[in-house]
Amino acid sequence: MAARPAARTVPRLRREAQLAMWRRAMEVMPGGADSNFRAWGEDTIYIDRGKGSHIWDLDGNEYIDLRMGYGPVILGHADPRVDDYVNERMRQGVSFSLTSEDEVRAIELIRELTGWVEMARLTVSGTEATMHCMRTARAFTGRDKIVKFEGQYHGVHDYALISVVPDDVSQLGDRDNPVRLAWGRGIPPAVAMTIIPVAYNDTATLRHVFETEGHDIAGVIIEPVLGNAQGIMPRPGFHEEVRAITKEFGALLIFDEVKTGFRFARGGAAEFFGITPDIASYAKAMGNGYPAAAFGGRADVMAVMPKHMSHGGTYAGNRVAAAAAVATLETLRDGTILAGIAQTGRTVQAGLADVAAKRGLPISFMGHPTMFGMVFAEEGPADYRGWAETDHELYDAVAVGIHARGAMPEPDSREPWFLSAAHDGSDVARIVEIFADSLDAALEARAAARG
Ligand SMILES: Cc1ncc(COP(=O)(O)O)c(C=O)c1O
Repeated sequence: MAARPAARTVPRLRREAQLAMWRRAMEVMPGGADSNFRAWGEDTIYIDRGKGSHIWDLDGNEYIDLRMGYGPVILGHADPRVDDYVNERMRQGVSFSLTSEDEVRAIELIRELTGWVEMARLTVSGTEATMHCMRTARAFTGRDKIVKFEGQYHGVHDYALISVVPDDVSQLGDRDNPVRLAWGRGIPPAVAMTIIPVAYNDTATLRHVFETEGHDIAGVIIEPVLGNAQGIMPRPGFHEEVRAITKEFGALLIFDEVKTGFRFARGGAAEFFGITPDIASYAKAMGNGYPAAAFGGRADVMAVMPKHMSHGGTYAGNRVAAAAAVATLETLRDGTILAGIAQTGRTVQAGLADVAAKRGLPISFMGHPTMFGMVFAEEGPADYRGWAETDHELYDAVAVGIHARGAMPEPDSREPWFLSAAHDGSDVARIVEIFADSLDAALEARAAARG
């Protein structure tokens, strides 16, 4: 989610059509893109199409996709199981502001796959889902404050954009007394003051925060791994302690499963870590790239709607998203596909580990095999502050080299690699080969720079 590293030459790639599109887009869109995270200056990528695990940019360059739209495309691009059903349904009309069977079915499937969500509502984006989770916690408890963890990204609403991913981690303040750091202008200080940032994996500070202002805390929102910072994992016992502290102080535990849901396991990170939160947000993998999202959880908590809490939206439960959710969740339902993606991820990791070992370089992987980050060190960081101390410059150089050679991870060490059901054995072999070449090039460049 951070800025792309400075432009480097990528000689093999054609760029003429994309540069022309960039100039055209710069006339009408700030940064030439619809999201700050896609505005990469003259290196901005303009996409033509995708199929399975491969994508093609406007100049016809082909890549093995390792971003998969920042995670949603779990089955592969243009998957006919989802697209055919969505097409069939959308020909019946797409927007009624009335409820359709697909919406009910999508939520029945969320309930079945998670095993703990009793009631849910559909939204259109992960941002809306986390925003409504926070509102639900506030509405249910009658308290205002929300604890979040540093380095975690919960979307682009004001309450979420506090202490996310500054390049300079000193801006986060002292570890035991963190600053409420707003990401950019336009976020009122009064909003920031309702959010309490705590370092991930630090339950001593979390307990201290609850002992000081627990009576004001409505909930703790947590992405179960730092999905936006290399997939940093919880230390043993961390989630259990967070669950116990929230229970002790009567606050809700909100799992942000936007990235982990229907990816780590059928029941997402809640199932993977064996923790039952009170409410959760879902998006990404539930719609294979269509704008489907949801928030849901305990029936007694969700019962604040419709009477006591506002939730709506012209496009909430729209036919395209609901149909995509039904088709995607039906496809993921028996768990075989997710197990297969995890196996692919383990094979990729083994290949990369072998490449690093042959060059005498340490490497460790973080996150889940379907969504993992890496660091060239014996051990990964435990929190976002720790990321700053890792050798991410080498990773950045390797990632840019990978891009030039025909695969596309995010060129920032914080964003994990995403795999899908469409990545096959030949993709894996090619990814490992490309990684080896890029690593060699980056190591040579580094050695040359050091003289
Ligand atoms: C953990 C998490 N929560 C929330 C969001 C926001 O989702 P959306 O981009 O659909 O608004 C994201 C997006 O990347 C995310 O990774």
